[in-house]
Amino acid sequence: MLRPVKKRIEHMLKPFPTLYRWASRLYGTVNRSTAPLSPGAPGALREALALAKEWASGDVGDYYEFGIYRGGAFAAAQRACRELGIESVHFYGFDSFQGLPPVEGIDETDGIFYEGQFAAPKDAVVRNLTEEGVDWDRTTLIEGFFSDSLTEEAKEAYPFRSVAVALLDCDLYSSTQEVLSWLESYLVDGSILLFDDWESFGDDGDLGQKRAFSEFLTKHPGLQAESLLSFPPHGQGFVVRRGQ
Ligand SMILES: C[S@@+](CC[C@H](N)C(=O)[O-])C[C@H]1O[C@@H](n2cnc3c(N)ncnc32)[C@H](O)[C@@H]1O
Repeated sequence: MLRPVKKRIEHMLKPFPTLYRWASRLYGTVNRSTAPLSPGAPGALREALALAKEWASGDVGDYYEFGIYRGGAFAAAQRACRELGIESVHFYGFDSFQGLPPVEGIDETDGIFYEGQFAAPKDAVVRNLTEEGVDWDRTTLIEGFFSDSLTEEAKEAYPFRSVAVALLDCDLYSSTQEVLSWLESYLVDGSILLFDDWESFGDDGDLGQKRAFSEFLTKHPGLQAESLLSFPPHGQGFVVRRGQ
């Protein structure tokens, strides 16, 4: 019920960037909710994980989330796996735990996003996830800005497997571009990608996650994407098809 009010206030404050950021930070401090920021994310995750289980001929693969903030959607993904009886999946969460990196270039459009937005310290996130009953034997959090953490060294350091489901909840074109480029080697036929910020810049395909995914697919002609589902308020999911 509060969401439309919040949206209206954001819209009113957008022409005044300093005020907008101040109010946004204040809201983040006052509102300690650990629920996923997107109300549609838990349902989309459950649907995607159920499909991943149904389609798997052997190993389901792993769950990846890029941008976990306070851990709401991450915990929801683990809950869904428990309910669906999916036991083999490992859960990887990637975040700076310092919020967004510097917002530059096309990501500055509309002034919606700013450096440091969605900062949540790692120890607080670990506490939230523990309270949510997360199984730490099946969970790995990887701290750092993606430009530092999504590396070839990380691929050697962790036993990453193919993507069953990946939630890309990192708001920006630049962050999404970094994620897709790193994740490419783990995408198999049937991997599901959920873009939480698909419509964050409206329907302009030259911005945000839409642009990053379109450029990624052009760069990798062996990969195709089939639209799978959409989820509120801005999300869109795809199934990856990989030619042999
Ligand atoms: C909208 S929040 C994620 C919300 C979360 N998935 C949920 O449902 O509650 C976006 C997150 O992306 C992270 N993020 C965005 N770009 C990043 C980057 N380049 N490197 C590391 N973290 C990044 C921010 O720190 C922030 O925690």
